[in-house]
Amino acid sequence: MKALVLSGGSGTRLRPFTYSMPKQLIPIANRPVLEHVLENIREIGVTEIGVIVGERRPEIEAVLGDGSRLGVRITYLHQEQPLGLAHTVTVAREFLGDEDFVMYLGDNMLPNGIAEVAEEFRAGRPAAQVVVHKVDDPRAFGVAEVGPDGAVQRLVEKPQQPRSDLALIGVYFFTPAIHLAVDAIEPSPRGELEITDAIQWLVTAGAPVRASEYRGYWKDTGRVDDVLDCNRELLEGLRRSVAGEVDADSELIGEVLVEPGAKVVRSRIEGPAVVGAGSVVEDSHIGPHTSIGKDCVLRDTHVSYSIALDGASVRGVSGIHGSLIGRSAAVTSVHSALRHHRLVVGDHTQVEVAA
Ligand code: TTP
Repeated sequence: MKALVLSGGSGTRLRPFTYSMPKQLIPIANRPVLEHVLENIREIGVTEIGVIVGERRPEIEAVLGDGSRLGVRITYLHQEQPLGLAHTVTVAREFLGDEDFVMYLGDNMLPNGIAEVAEEFRAGRPAAQVVVHKVDDPRAFGVAEVGPDGAVQRLVEKPQQPRSDLALIGVYFFTPAIHLAVDAIEPSPRGELEITDAIQWLVTAGAPVRASEYRGYWKDTGRVDDVLDCNRELLEGLRRSVAGEVDADSELIGEVLVEPGAKVVRSRIEGPAVVGAGSVVEDSHIGPHTSIGKDCVLRDTHVSYSIALDGASVRGVSGIHGSLIGRSAAVTSVHSALRHHRLVVGDHTQVEVAA
């Protein structure tokens, strides 16, 4: 079996971050989403992986390389334009050959792994095995209507009146039968070749299509709130490890990871929290549920439930919460007598100031 990981797309919902980096490289618990994805794939014994990339190929290649660091072999497959999930299957046609494959959206996090689904697929080899997850409001998703035996009877994209609460999430297993389906469908009204249309084509043609329910934690990390929630979830599994320096006036509470070369001075770090390699935390209170990337500087600050990407700095500002701070971004204070805020804010950035 091979794998197809989708890391193209536009990432409009994660602007401004996606102006300078692909969303699949946003760190969750200080590791890019894509590394978590590749790890899940390797865990089911699949090491031959095609990674769909668009214009962000150089950044993705710089981080993943040939995959050997992660125990897999990566072939990069260029998609000129994000023309839909099913379109990526046509881009990967030659790479996939006549093998079964798992298609995995590169921004989806399933920390409980996909071993059970993979086992079900391998045992029965239906034309398609989709992964579904119970959601509160299925109207924003592709929804599967599933019979009591697990057979998919119908797929409906963003139904107004959903007949099931089982949303399709970003992992699909296919036999080569999917290629016929992808060739047969037409672009949807939004101009994309939809994978739900291709799978529905298989259902209509009478091919076996099955659903497996994933009951663990799942997140599509397409929006800032989802990135933060996912970071919180992953940090819950953290174990204390202190490789950096922590001075005698500092206190680490609970599960805290201080990476090599990091320095914690006169500060209190409340786990779960990570302080990345080479970062300096001074006179500050960090955490809980906070990830500080590499080479960050935090001074006189209180940061909780947040992520700071590599090289970010926060100085003299307390009460930072629910925040995602970009690479080498600086958040600082001005003299309080000035009684104003000075903002240099990039396009599509969101700033919320306590009034
Ligand atoms: P989406 O999150 O649905 O699309 P997007 O990346 O364009 O994001 P936004 O809606 O915020 O603009 O895509 C799911 C995953 O599939 C994501 O990892 C990007 C990838 N993808 C491709 O590789 N090629 C494509 O043609 C599309 C549509 C998505």
